[in-house]
Amino acid sequence: MDHIRNFSIIAHIDHGKSTLADRIIERTGGLSSREMESQVLDSMDLERERGITIKAQTAALSYKARDGREYRLNLIDTPGHVDFSYEVSRSLSACEGALLVVDASQGVEAQTVANCYTATELGVDVVPVLNKIDLPSAQPDRVIQEIEEVIGIDATDAVFCSAKTGEGVDDVIEAVIARIPPPKGDPTGPLKALIIDSWFDNYVGVVILVRVVDGELKPKDNILLMATGAKHLVEQVGVFTPKSLQRDSLGAGEVGFIIAGIKELKDAKVGDTVTTVERMAAAPLPGFKEIQPQVFAGLYPVESNRYEALRDALQKLQLNDSSLRYEPETSQALGFGFRCGFLGLLHMDIVQERLEREYDMELITTAPTVVYQLALRDGTVIEIDNPSKLPDASFIEEIREPIIRATIIMPNEYVGPVITLCEIKRGTQVNMQYAGRQVILTYDMPLNEIVMDFFDKLKSNSRGYASLDYEFRKFRAGDLVKLDILINGDKVDALSLIVHRETARYRGRELASRMRTLIPRQMFDVAVQAAIGSDVVARENIKAMRKNVLAKCYGGDISRKRKLLEKQKAGKKRMKQVGNVEIPQEAFLAILQVE
Ligand code: GTP
Repeated sequence: MDHIRNFSIIAHIDHGKSTLADRIIERTGGLSSREMESQVLDSMDLERERGITIKAQTAALSYKARDGREYRLNLIDTPGHVDFSYEVSRSLSACEGALLVVDASQGVEAQTVANCYTATELGVDVVPVLNKIDLPSAQPDRVIQEIEEVIGIDATDAVFCSAKTGEGVDDVIEAVIARIPPPKGDPTGPLKALIIDSWFDNYVGVVILVRVVDGELKPKDNILLMATGAKHLVEQVGVFTPKSLQRDSLGAGEVGFIIAGIKELKDAKVGDTVTTVERMAAAPLPGFKEIQPQVFAGLYPVESNRYEALRDALQKLQLNDSSLRYEPETSQALGFGFRCGFLGLLHMDIVQERLEREYDMELITTAPTVVYQLALRDGTVIEIDNPSKLPDASFIEEIREPIIRATIIMPNEYVGPVITLCEIKRGTQVNMQYAGRQVILTYDMPLNEIVMDFFDKLKSNSRGYASLDYEFRKFRAGDLVKLDILINGDKVDALSLIVHRETARYRGRELASRMRTLIPRQMFDVAVQAAIGSDVVARENIKAMRKNVLAKCYGGDISRKRKLLEKQKAGKKRMKQVGNVEIPQEAFLAILQVE
């Protein structure tokens, strides 16, 4: 095993992870440069003409080092966003080392720090790499100092490279060999393999990417997935170069894929341990977690007859995205739709975007919300993911909300505004650390405030310089109330919110006034009210439309009339008839714009 190196690349978005990975793959002969262009770069194009779908940048590479020996380098991809931190931790735990890629013209960012801490906690060796040294604005010395001060690792022998020009890429590969230890493991013990990733392939079913820790894995093995209890017969094993390549076996220390006729992704969960039925491992590998969605929203088709199509689309998306949850939901206002659960806001955006683009769905989405834990007077504890399901206050002992720990890194000139923002968002400061020109702030904050619009505000308060990472800490009781919106006296369930009592009145007023600007005039007066329980805190009036739009065209030329009608129709696209009032998509998300 001493010729094997398993490693990942940790980097903040845009610091050059994909470019460096592509370079390394290119240098180690995994693909010709023509294939590089067509194959590696984008993994979202899931369909490949032949064989198994591959995931970009997870590759078993061969490399003849300067010491004259041939090495097998397994590059394991890690997702680059805070929503996927569990996947990152599983990928890292399959490695002995990680390259920490930092843009030499930018410096350390929150995501890098968080992932580095995860790596260090897992005992993974971190090798700092300064990328983009070709840029005139690169300041490698300053960034080295920053890595040492902010992350607390020795960066004096950081490797310099430019993934763009290729300069220094060989040094990076040599550093992987020299500074990352080979895997340890028992090649003859009972099989223990960690699931790093799994995805669905239309031809062969579920493909599982594993790191074999102990033992050996071969076709015809009867495997057991320890967390789910699923049993399957192995059909194929192999590696990605990144092209898929069948092999006779995968041994301890190796990274490769298993195909075992598995039909459902939920059988092969990331972080689970694969063993064999005949010679079962005594205990699974540590660290497995069921991932729980953190952010929920209602998705409703604009045209109610597209409900079944939406169900099909969600079902298809879930085939390849086991962290997406959905269940049917009925809203008085919006009709039939689905309550969907996401890992975070980015995940939610991706799903919405795919539904709209790939499945041609037109959706009305409700404002994202978090899960609340309710301690009821009768002693039971329940969780709700939809504010409209909050029982009457008389049944509730306590409402608890999810609290996250946020790490924010920014240049020190923005500390003031960022602290003010965190305080407004009900944050409690845990720590503040100065490291060179950077400041690291740690805050405990309600996840709900993050979901609202924290990220945008953070960016605007720091001219884009602050970066954020967060993780779930606990549920904490809060003074929370339900804020309802009534339209012409009727409560609109899809507009209900759970907010802190202190800001409820203000938010109610702001929301009602925003609704007034967003809901188009109708043929009659429309009253918008905000209420906490039976206490109406705001009322706005939308005056009836004065003239019939079409009246203008009577006698006019027909094409103008048609144009007007078409324009109206296009404008109507994202509207939902609630009672007899048409409400546009923006109104359902209006709360996100309330300060
Ligand atoms: P995500 O895929 O969004 O996570 O970003 P990433 O970290 O993978 O960064 P990516 O490789 O996509 O690079 C981001 C941008 O930086 C691209 O426009 C690259 O062309 C550019 N880039 C990457 N490496 C270098 C480099 O060494 N020098 C210069 N000048 N640009 C680079």
